[in-house]
Amino acid sequence: MVRKLFSYFIPINVYRKNSSVSKSIEVTWNNGELVLDSKSTNYSYGSLQRILRKGLKYIGFERIRNFESILVLGVAGGSVIKTLVDEIKFKGRITGVEIDRDIIDIANGYFQLDKIPNLEIVVDDAFEYVLKTKLKYDLIIIDIFQDTTMPNFLFEDFFIQRINSLLNLNGFILFNTMVINQKQEERNLIYKSKFGGDYSLRMYPKVEVHNELFTIKKLS
Ligand SMILES: C[S@@+](CC[C@H](N)C(=O)[O-])C[C@H]1O[C@@H](n2cnc3c(N)ncnc32)[C@H](O)[C@@H]1O
Repeated sequence: MVRKLFSYFIPINVYRKNSSVSKSIEVTWNNGELVLDSKSTNYSYGSLQRILRKGLKYIGFERIRNFESILVLGVAGGSVIKTLVDEIKFKGRITGVEIDRDIIDIANGYFQLDKIPNLEIVVDDAFEYVLKTKLKYDLIIIDIFQDTTMPNFLFEDFFIQRINSLLNLNGFILFNTMVINQKQEERNLIYKSKFGGDYSLRMYPKVEVHNELFTIKKLS
C-alpha cells in the first residue's frame, strides 16, 4: 500500500513486458489507482475507463441493466467489464474477446478478471470471432487498439455488416475511436455515413481530448 500512496506523487511501475500486439504492456500505480498501459497509451482503468463509462451513461445504465447479453471486443485489463458488473450491476452474460493471451493473464493476476462469474473470455482475433459466432447481443462494445493504432478492418463494410447482424433489435453498439489527425476525422465521418435509417447514430467528439465515441442503436 506504500506504493499506492507514493503514486499520488509519481507513477510507480510494478510490471512490464514486451508485446508484439501492444509494443509493451505495463501495470502502474498512478494517482492511487492501478492502471494498465501499452507503450504509448492508457489501455485500462484511468482515462480509458472514464471514456467508456461516459459511453455507457449515454446509452443509460438502467437500460443496460435490463440487457441479456453483452459482447466486449478488446478486453485488456477489463475496466469496462468492471464498470458493467460493479457499477451498473449487470447480471447477464458477458463475452470478452481479446487477441493477446498475455494481457488476459495480467488481467487475471492484477485485476482479478477471472473472479467475475458471468464473464466468458475468448482468446481470439475479434474479426475471426464475429465471423464464427452464432450468438446475438444487446450491446456490442468495440474497443480495439494495437498501442495507438486502430486496425483498418474496424471501419470496413464487411466487419460493420457482420457486427450489425449480431445485434438484437433495440440493441446498441458502443465504438471507441482515437482521432489525432484530419485523416482520422474523415475516416470517422465516412464510418458515420455507413449507417442508414434503420440505425440511430450519435457521435461524441473529444471525450478526454483525443477519443471520439459512437453510440449506434438498431431500431425496431
Ligand atoms: C484499449 S484496450 C481495451 C480496454 C478494455 N476495453 C477495458 O475496458 O479495459 C485494446 C485491446 O484491444 C486488443 N486487440 C487489438 N487487436 C485486437 C483484435 N484484432 N482482436 C481482439 N483484440 C484486439 C489489445 O490487445 C488490447 O488489449
